[in-house]
Amino acid sequence: MTETITVVGAGNVGATTAQRIAEKGLARRVVLVDVVEGIPQGKALDQWESGPIEGFDSRVIGTNGYEETAGSSIVVITAGIARKPGMSRDDLLATNAGIVRQVSEQIRRTSPDAILIIVSNPLDVMCYVAKHVTGFPRERVLGMAGVLDTARFRSFLSEALDVSVNDIQAMVLGGHGDTMVPLISYTTVSGIPVRQLLDAATLDRLVDRARNGGAEVVAHLKTGSAYYAPSAAAVQMVEAIVRDQKRVFPCAAWLEGEFGLSGLFLGVPCKLGRRGLERIIEVELSADERTALAKIADAFRGPMAAIKL
Ligand SMILES: NC(=O)c1ccc[n+]([C@@H]2O[C@H](COP(=O)([O-])OP(=O)(O)OC[C@H]3O[C@@H](n4cnc5c(N)ncnc54)[C@H](O)[C@@H]3O)[C@@H](O)[C@H]2O)c1
Repeated sequence: MTETITVVGAGNVGATTAQRIAEKGLARRVVLVDVVEGIPQGKALDQWESGPIEGFDSRVIGTNGYEETAGSSIVVITAGIARKPGMSRDDLLATNAGIVRQVSEQIRRTSPDAILIIVSNPLDVMCYVAKHVTGFPRERVLGMAGVLDTARFRSFLSEALDVSVNDIQAMVLGGHGDTMVPLISYTTVSGIPVRQLLDAATLDRLVDRARNGGAEVVAHLKTGSAYYAPSAAAVQMVEAIVRDQKRVFPCAAWLEGEFGLSGLFLGVPCKLGRRGLERIIEVELSADERTALAKIADAFRGPMAAIKL
């Protein structure tokens, strides 16, 4: 258990993230921050009062300021506006960049040693804003997307194969959702390559569904977007760091030459432990996977350059 974990943004993803952190007993204090008066305070109080039933001792605190967050070891940033039906992640760019910039300035001031986990979209650019504004080393700025995308893919695979989701391992690279690069040759069922168990057409269909997993939820909800699986994914990363688990997840990380790419955040296999990003694992890629990754990296550079910092 660590002393303080902060979650910025008390909306659907942020509030559920705070609740999961408290329920797992990952921090003595879980601080929920939002600009809307009353919302973080009310949600935090309500969550804290579930402690006697759920059996956790974490104190959940809601606030509109940053003083209560001081000295946080981990800060999860979910602040921003969520995607509405028909809206692309890039439509969110300018608004959310301003929000993440302002949040990052506060975190740099109050929690200079924190490890940041960025959730706000468009993910890769928001990671860049947070890293640039805080000046934190790459070990302490990570983005959550691949854990969610692989969870969706694993769910669909488990249903198609009628096997436990616990026995399915998958790895994706690249961007979030429609820009992900699934590594089918590294997708296994207890070590059995999935290509031995499913035909190419079925695999393509499941990859497509995972790519559009976020949009599928948005289409049902009409207002708002997914938050149960996204919060679970963010908290799995938090837990790996707090418990120094050395787990290997696909996370958005700042590349410095890995996979032949530099100067941008991209989803890659990362080992997470107490120090945050402890290693990027450069798996072997096919020529097609390399080309797909390079294409996505090119597409990301435009929005990154468009941000005025
Ligand atoms: N990376 C992923 O895989 C993933 C998955 C789901 C959602 N998301 C993204 O996460 C973000 C949050 O989604 P949500 O569904 O919780 O949205 P939401 O609208 O429910 O919550 C966002 C919250 O941020 C708050 N906020 C706005 N400006 C703020 C500021 N300056 N400081 C603090 N709080 C501020 C809002 O008041 C709101 O409560 C969105 O950008 C969404 O696209 C990413």
